[in-house]
Amino acid sequence: MMSDLIRAEGLVHRYAGTGPPALDHVDLVIEAGEWVAIIGPNGSGKSTLAKHLNALLLPTAGRVLVDGMDTKDQANLWEIRRRVGMVFQNPDNQIVATVVEEDVAFGPENLGVPAAEIRRRVDDALWRVGMLAHARREPHLLSGGQKQRVGVAGVLAMRPRCIVLDEATSMLDPSGRAELMSVISELTQSLGLAVIQITHHMDEALLSRRVVVMDQGRIILDGPAGEVFEAGEILQSAGLDRPTIVRLVDELRRRGVPLPAGIISVEALVRSLEEVRSRGSAHRA
Ligand SMILES: Nc1ncnc2c1ncn2[C@@H]1O[C@H](COP(=O)(O)OP(=O)(O)OP(=O)(O)O)[C@@H](O)[C@H]1O
Ligand SMILES: [Mg+2]
Repeated sequence: MMSDLIRAEGLVHRYAGTGPPALDHVDLVIEAGEWVAIIGPNGSGKSTLAKHLNALLLPTAGRVLVDGMDTKDQANLWEIRRRVGMVFQNPDNQIVATVVEEDVAFGPENLGVPAAEIRRRVDDALWRVGMLAHARREPHLLSGGQKQRVGVAGVLAMRPRCIVLDEATSMLDPSGRAELMSVISELTQSLGLAVIQITHHMDEALLSRRVVVMDQGRIILDGPAGEVFEAGEILQSAGLDRPTIVRLVDELRRRGVPLPAGIISVEALVRSLEEVRSRGSAHRA
């Protein structure tokens, strides 16, 4: 219980109006340091869920706890927002200052952090996302991927425990996307940050160990990537594609190659194919 970083219990959210709830009794526990991908079709409730994790939205029913703090308790608001940072889709909507380092300093300044400590945090955060050399530049001159990394640095400067990326790579080109993902991967390892990554890119979801699948406001699958992506029919019924590697494995099986379940990397596929081949030559011998 103590290592739970985020806990949503029976979470229901209804936007004003009478339609079906955007979140319909969601239960979700995220442990400290965990990297979780959330996937699901358009309108399935991913962003609505994300906004509950740092009290941008409050539950209609049920509750959300961050480090044991209830998001409904107004007194916890700033501490929760400090601990759970968000990076959204559009890099142009989240940069507030006209110089990169001032943008990163914005959060800790609002928290009343002393100036010398802000300086340290800003330099450290920019260094971690590979943007220290751009500290004095104007954000509008940066590429989309660089802007998103500045956004991540702004979150890091708050010394968070969790970072939520809501389709943060979706407006980036492939190289910008790959760079952002490698920065995130590095951060989970060096800082032990929990990462919750909402994405429409199935190949990106594979980078996380755990995958949560949403459909119509509910969690329909939650488990290791290898298991979740084996559930082809459930994913298909939710209108979701599967990662390239999983489709390839499926195609090979259909053509009679006896591959085991749960292959989600090229390395694992190569290993399995080698095993299949050596078994084959053993049979012939
Ligand atoms: N501000 C709002 N007011 C009313 N309804 C909303 C609002 N925001 C979202 N919704 C509705 O809530 C449901 C869930 O939307 P949400 O944005 O959480 O889905 P999503 O999974 O993030 O979708 P996408 O993949 O398109 O980003 C949808 O039916 C959507 O139309
Ligand atoms: Mg969304």
